[in-house]
Order: sequence, then structure tokens, then C-alpha cells
Amino acid sequence: MRGRRCVVRPWRSSDASAVAKHANNANVARNLRDRFPHPYTASDARHFIESVMDARPMTNFAITVDGEPVGAIGFSPGSDVERYAAEIGYWLAEPFWGRGIAVEALELVTAYAFDECNLLRLFALPFADNDRSTRVLEKAGYAREGLLRASAVKYGEPRDQALYARINPRWKGAM
Ligand SMILES: CC(C)(COP(=O)(O)OP(=O)(O)OC[C@H]1O[C@@H](n2cnc3c(N)ncnc32)[C@H](O)[C@@H]1OP(=O)(O)O)[C@@H](O)C(=O)NCCC(=O)NCCS
Repeated sequence: MRGRRCVVRPWRSSDASAVAKHANNANVARNLRDRFPHPYTASDARHFIESVMDARPMTNFAITVDGEPVGAIGFSPGSDVERYAAEIGYWLAEPFWGRGIAVEALELVTAYAFDECNLLRLFALPFADNDRSTRVLEKAGYAREGLLRASAVKYGEPRDQALYARINPRWKGAM
């Protein structure tokens, strides 16, 4: 998926060292779930890439700039009555923040999830004080649906999460 600022593409095993370099950053980890480790090692990167690269349909992608993987974006579909909804998440290497790359990557993957995977709803749960991420979601057309008070605990502290979602206007119906 080609944008003006980045290319979003499937993961390759050879991406592991770049991922480990960019992901090993406390400013990235502090805004993500605990399953995103800190420190982030080459072995963490290899395990992550191996765990997602064979999934079909593909749900996890590298965000690349000039051919280098500088971030990740992916979605996890629910099950049962929530099987047409998925949670989307992303991170970007800190030197690349503030250039509109995350907004563009989110727009590209949202279009893919709606048009190629026929998802009805994509949602995200940023920590409520993660202004950069809530701005990214708003710019990519996600609507704020609510505030989940004390819905998470990060580094031992209760945290509020904001709920953002976008609905697929072109949904083809249940299959
Ligand atoms: C969230 C993240 C992907 C955003 O990346 P980014 O490259 O800064 O995003 P973009 O440049 O596409 O857009 C950022 C928007 O936030 C704005 N912004 C930048 N710094 C900001 C700040 N300190 N406070 C509020 N808004 C800010 C930008 O100006 C831009 O909006 P604008 O175009 O209207 O000015 C990146 O900061 C990141 O990886 N953070 C750590 C992981 C994370 O939080 N992931 C999301 C979990 S839900």
C-alpha cells in the first residue's frame, strides 16, 4: 500500500534488526500494551515478525520510509458476534513523528481492512492522554465514542482509555 509519505507492506524476516532498533524506545513503549516489551531486543523483533507474517488474511504490516521499516500497524478481529469488528494499533519510530506518516498509514490500513477484509468496524483504545495518537485517529476519520475510566493499568498506575471507531460505509454484509 503506497502513500505519499510511507509504504505499508507485509513483514519480512530481514526487518527484525530495524524493528529492534526503532522499537527499543521508552517513549514508544509507554503508550502501548505491556506485551510490547521494553527493553525491546532482536529476539523480540524476530518472534513478533514470525508470529504475524504467515497470517491470512494479513493483519499486520510494516510502515516503511525509503525502504526502511520504521513502524508497525495491525488489527485484531474479534470473535463470535464481534467478528466483523477489529482493534487497530500502531507505533512509529520517534525520529519520524510529526510528519503525518501515522495518519497516512492508518488511512491505508483502514481502507484495506474495510475493502479487502470486509470488516464493519475498526476501533482503537489509546490512553486518554496520548494526544498524538488521538489526533492521528481524528485526522484519519475515527470518531470519539467515549472514555473508559480506569480501564487499564500501566506501570502500576490506573489509566483512562479513549474509545475511537470508524464504521465501514461499504460493508458487504455478513458472509
Ligand atoms: C502515535 C504516533 C504513531 C503518532 O505518530 P506521528 O508521526 O506523530 O503522527 P502524525 O504526524 O501522523 O500526526 C500527529 C498529529 O498529532 C499532532 N501532534 C504532534 N505532537 C503533538 C503533541 N505533543 N500533542 C498533541 N498533538 C501533537 C501533530 O501535529 C499531528 O497533527 P497535525 O497534523 O494536526 O498537526 C507516535 O507518536 C507513536 O508511535 N507513539 C508511541 C506509540 C503510540 O502511542 N501508539 C498508539 C497507541 S494507541
